[in-house]
Amino acid sequence: SIDASSVQDLVSKNLETIPSRYIRPEIDGEIVVTSIDNEVPVIDLSKLILDGNKGGFSNEEMKKLHLACQEWGFFQLVNHGVDEEAMKKMVEDVMEFFELPVELKKECSSEIEGYGQAFVLSEEQKLDWGDMLYFSTRPDSARNYKVWPAHRPLTFRETVNKYSSEMERMKTILVGLMAKNLGIDQGKFIDLFKDGLQSMRLNYYPPCPDPSKVLGISPHSDATGITILLQLNEVDGLQIRHDGNWVPVKMLPGALLVNIGDVIEILSNGIYKSIEHRVVINKEKERISVATFHEAHKSVLVGPLPELIVDGETEMYRSVTSDEFLKLLLSQKLDGKSLLDVLK
Ligand code: SIN
Ligand code: FE2
Repeated sequence: SIDASSVQDLVSKNLETIPSRYIRPEIDGEIVVTSIDNEVPVIDLSKLILDGNKGGFSNEEMKKLHLACQEWGFFQLVNHGVDEEAMKKMVEDVMEFFELPVELKKECSSEIEGYGQAFVLSEEQKLDWGDMLYFSTRPDSARNYKVWPAHRPLTFRETVNKYSSEMERMKTILVGLMAKNLGIDQGKFIDLFKDGLQSMRLNYYPPCPDPSKVLGISPHSDATGITILLQLNEVDGLQIRHDGNWVPVKMLPGALLVNIGDVIEILSNGIYKSIEHRVVINKEKERISVATFHEAHKSVLVGPLPELIVDGETEMYRSVTSDEFLKLLLSQKLDGKSLLDVLK
């Protein structure tokens, strides 16, 4: 969020033409094929939780989850049990934030966190058709309240507290299930993510008169452990790379979207995939989403887990400390290479 210009502001001025910095010649005329046989897997979490589960644990669903992590890097999560009130309040407060006048939103601007646009590093760089508010949420000591909305929404802190603790709970459940599927010690794997940094990005994508020329977010993979996404207003736009195609995600009502980040791809020695994705824009409707990123604890060495390097298996990635990982992350944004390629 270095460049605090606002696309929402730009759009409100009823532009005749799209400024060239937003135009992506590479996507013009692109065809995205949709097919019912080619959709992001849906995982029913109620079939994977033992507590009070009358139906019993489903090995079938567990296999589906494993395949989703291996082949898609993404899945929709239904019957997840995230507190409905916590989700509803999050939706309301995020809507209210983006409805604030741009001057008020800009009060949340800062160097790295805050309101604005991600990773604007040069005058030539193409810009994303979207605004965001990025901030750390956990542990408490990582919070920088200067970039949190100060007055409105009135309940912002309380709402984020509740939602972020629900996301933390989900993260723990999910990495536990992944460990089980990977055949590694669940407690140990869960501990790698315990007290890891959690951050959130609230995304606002205004409509665009010519959506075939812009992108809400450029193609990227997430440099995190896992990401959990909430889409607010039933406007789809996320597309993920699968078998060389861009596959649009059709979000189910009430579902959360989970994706594997680079760190889990590396820890799992490439068994689980951190998949490239991007956001396309709607001609008439705004799109709003909340991404919650979960990092491994900062003491964790980012490299293939030794317990997965058995039977002459080779390490797909070299190991780096989390500090080195962070440095690489910031520098790779400069030359557009994927972090996974750098560590191969
Ligand atoms: C992303 O954070 O990469 C995508 C978020 C979204 O779907 O809006
Ligand atoms: Fe992402």
